[in-house]
Amino acid sequence: MKILFDQEQIRQGITQLGSKLNEQYGQSPITVVAIMTGSLVMLADLIRCLEMPLRISLIRASSYRGGISSGELHVEELQRLDIQDRDVLLIDDIFDTGKTLLEVSKRLEDLRPRSLKTAVFLNKQGTSQVQLKPDFSVFDIPNKFVVGYGLDYDDYYRNLPYVAVLEPSDLEQHHAASR
Ligand code: IMP
Ligand code: MG
Repeated sequence: MKILFDQEQIRQGITQLGSKLNEQYGQSPITVVAIMTGSLVMLADLIRCLEMPLRISLIRASSYRGGISSGELHVEELQRLDIQDRDVLLIDDIFDTGKTLLEVSKRLEDLRPRSLKTAVFLNKQGTSQVQLKPDFSVFDIPNKFVVGYGLDYDDYYRNLPYVAVLEPSDLEQHHAASR
């Protein structure tokens, strides 16, 4: 696997994002809404860089139901989303077509937060299909399929402490090993 960002680079990137958010919000309380499962690792690291009082809400978003991609996004609250009049920071692992972030943002806006900002760990270049842009991103990446630091292939690899490009030879190994 070709490593794009190692542990130290990621630590620095997340710390920088934390500083920007501390500057942005000061001591105003925020609600961090994290899209599971991809943003789990980012969530855990980022919140420990944040200095304001904060609450966490988890949601799950998927375009799959019963194994078939419907193209329609299914959003599931894993905790009650109590965000009316609150400053909300929505986080996700990666911005690819942007459809997930756009759709989840719309659902959150319906709940009338005081403000809504979005932060992603990775921003894939040249793949967006929406007008929305994330307010914050840690790294830009080329249009490659990556895993690690929360990002999965077939629900595996989320535990890698680095971000790597998954290449065809890795896939053969994966299918041999995870059977
Ligand atoms: P979007 O709705 O097209 O922006 O896709 C966002 C979701 O697609 C992410 O939350 C990931 O679950 C998945 N995804 C997109 N690109 C990658 C990748 O390179 N590796 C792993 N997951 C990805
Ligand atoms: Mg995923």
